[in-house]
Amino acid sequence: MRDLPFTRPSLGDAEQQAVREVLESGWITTGPKTAQFETALADYLGGGVTVVSFNSATSGLEAILLAAGIGPGDEVIVPAMSFVATANVVVRVGARPVFVEVDLVSRNLRVDEVRDALTDRTRAIMPVHFAGRAVDLAPLRELAESHRLLLIEDAAQAIGSEYEGKRIGASGNPVCFSFHPNKNITTIEGGAVACRDTALLARLRRLRFHGIERDAAGNMDVPEWGGKMNLPDVNAALGLAQLPRLDGFNARRRELARRYLTELPDHPALVLPQEVDGHSWHMFCICLDFEALGTERSAVQQQLQAVGIGCGIHYPAMHLFSMYQALGYAAGDFPVAERIGTQTLTLPLFPDMLDEDVTRVCRALMQLLDGATR
Ligand SMILES: Cc1ncc(COP(=O)(O)O)c(C=O)c1O
Repeated sequence: MRDLPFTRPSLGDAEQQAVREVLESGWITTGPKTAQFETALADYLGGGVTVVSFNSATSGLEAILLAAGIGPGDEVIVPAMSFVATANVVVRVGARPVFVEVDLVSRNLRVDEVRDALTDRTRAIMPVHFAGRAVDLAPLRELAESHRLLLIEDAAQAIGSEYEGKRIGASGNPVCFSFHPNKNITTIEGGAVACRDTALLARLRRLRFHGIERDAAGNMDVPEWGGKMNLPDVNAALGLAQLPRLDGFNARRRELARRYLTELPDHPALVLPQEVDGHSWHMFCICLDFEALGTERSAVQQQLQAVGIGCGIHYPAMHLFSMYQALGYAAGDFPVAERIGTQTLTLPLFPDMLDEDVTRVCRALMQLLDGATR
């Protein structure tokens, strides 16, 4: 039986051809393909936004914080459940990540918790669209506006997701995407920020490349520090080949997710994700009460691996990492995020999967559940 990883990028002839053309062109780092990719992505997102590409979403998020002048003494509200890059970038600029509790099913931060976490040091709210499910942005926008806070969307997992019928990234506030290989489209490593604030965009471009600014005559100045966070043309060419396929990929992801939701049983030890409009199903993450089942997650992973099924863990709760415990966070602070951290399992989901693959995963999982409850 063929091995089924939890994710795999869909790369075909178009991607190979696009990369080959760049390699043969004589210009392989940031140049015309990167500019083309930024324009194509802005067109895809809509809303009149401009896109600035980066070598990762981590770089993009860090650059947004720097460009907004967020640093020591400031607080940024982030969900306790995300990939650790979400909080790390806040630490990196010298600010304090203020974790908030998440919802068990959507895994997205809870607006009431955000409200309670506001202080006079809060500068930004940074929600994560977990696994491609859009956060309820309307109340967050209201909160950000009424408290003069920047709303920064960590949309690393949400390319192609929609909120109230509009693409995530079309709203105008800074929104950051990732094109890491496990994302819904990939540039190998890569990221992009979409926004409509021209001053912020100009600063993002400067921060991305050594702080360099050029006047109309091409004269160079360096008004501030900048890093080295640019996306090369080879990667952008991959992105250009992937982007026209994105909606098809996401439609297939939705079909597969629907199949999981139909074939997986109602079981007291199992928490399933929910189908909602605009979900791009970056991942299919379940919670399993391993303790109630009398087993451990590692044992279940091994049993699934033994029949060729790979699973992921997304994610341990961030506030329990030692760096964040050193900032004063402790076990018990965010019980839902902690529960997800210990019970989560990511089932295989990628566009090239077959319907039978889903059935195979569901059967394997049901056998484990039956075995445990018998
Ligand atoms: C929610 C979230 N934020 C940020 C990142 C960082 O993305 P990148 O690997 O492109 O730096 C990731 C990557 O998985 C992520 O899932």
